[in-house]
Amino acid sequence: MDNRYSFLGGKRGPWRVARLDGLRGEGLEAVERLQIVQGEWAESASEAAWVLRGLTSNVRYATRPEVDALRERQPALARPEARYAALIPIKKSARWWELAQDERRAIFEETSHHTAIGMEFLPAVARRLHHCRDIGEPFDFLTWFEYAPEHTRAFEDLLDRLRVTREWDFVEREVDIRLVRI
Ligand code: HEM
Repeated sequence: MDNRYSFLGGKRGPWRVARLDGLRGEGLEAVERLQIVQGEWAESASEAAWVLRGLTSNVRYATRPEVDALRERQPALARPEARYAALIPIKKSARWWELAQDERRAIFEETSHHTAIGMEFLPAVARRLHHCRDIGEPFDFLTWFEYAPEHTRAFEDLLDRLRVTREWDFVEREVDIRLVRI
């Protein structure tokens, strides 16, 4: 399966932008709609105000027990009841990328408990992680989440808990885009 995804912010697409907040670093231009294209990279020459591109990839930090636990609890994307979504593009600092893999894992999980915290919110929240650091994109990751309206509060709690962790000390750009399926 083609692992390339383009996120087009503009006037078209099945997701209405309810909020677009630049939280750290440079923001993104406000748009009305979001469209996601899988496969061939979408061209920025289209009417979109911006296009962000990312690839799904292999896991970097999850251990075997974590991978198994995630597989067991993670819901699929595109559930009919999950009408709300969030696209949160993130860029980490040079300091983060200078660390060795084991140092990053220690911050990510042993100190910040990213996966352990996230697991508490499964199966309410469905997710897909896209990588874009090595393809010349402005962000390192495009994180995508889907949830039902009644889990909005839980999703905010999840963000509150992750954003105060040591891992987030290394986040230098973050834009929080909230969407509603039309
Ligand atoms: C990476 C789980 C929510 C941002 C990861 C990884 C796991 C995970 C297992 C590591 C993947 C790997 O081994 O390479 C979860 C779960 C969540 C959740 C179960 C609950 C829904 C979030 C949220 C955000 C986020 C809400 C953003 C606000 C990221 C980022 C990475 C990541 C940026 C990449 C980190 C890096 O490679 O440096 N997540 N996550 N996650 N997650 Fe989450």
